[in-house]
Amino acid sequence: MSIRHNEVLQALFRRRSIRAYTRDPVDRQSVETILQAGRWAPSGLNNQPWRFMVLFAGDSRQEGLAECTRYGGIVRKARVLIPVCIDKASMYSATKDHQSIGACMQNMLLAVHSLGLGGVWLGEILNREERALDVLGLDREAYGLMAVLALGHPAEEGKSERKPLGELLLEEW
Ligand SMILES: Cc1cc2nc3c(=O)[nH]c(=O)nc-3n(C[C@H](O)[C@H](O)[C@H](O)COP(=O)(O)O)c2cc1C
Repeated sequence: MSIRHNEVLQALFRRRSIRAYTRDPVDRQSVETILQAGRWAPSGLNNQPWRFMVLFAGDSRQEGLAECTRYGGIVRKARVLIPVCIDKASMYSATKDHQSIGACMQNMLLAVHSLGLGGVWLGEILNREERALDVLGLDREAYGLMAVLALGHPAEEGKSERKPLGELLLEEW
């Protein structure tokens, strides 16, 4: 299979988590595009349970979020943080709604990559979910924190590998 002329596949195969960013700001138009990509993810019953916040570098809540995770260094360096929440009132199935948020996250990560930016999905912060929701000023009854997307202009090359496909197949095909 040649991916040379297929930009979607190129993005899928070349995207890597980026955890270091330059100090260059990220423009609002790029953030809008990233949010639109998240919004267009598939969801069970098309219920679109995701809700977003946007924190630009220097936001007074950035340090508070950094203190909620052992990846605080990434949070402090990020030029934009997008906390992705689930709207509890929109949910119909915990499993399927959480899967939908995963699709939304992946859409946004691919949008980040395709714009020449770099980002990473921060999930460890959920170990201090209640504290993070307080930092964000969100009602715990109404919203759950699903992840924080940290992004900026890349200051590193991502590197990660994958298990060979043969190890992942449960039977011959
Ligand atoms: C559910 C989930 C939670 C993650 N949480 C973190 C995190 O807290 N900190 C971090 O640096 N990376 C986190 N990552 C990024 C993964 O470490 C990364 O996707 C994986 O190592 C594969 O690397 P790649 O994204 O470069 O392909 C998370 C990814 C997912 C999907």
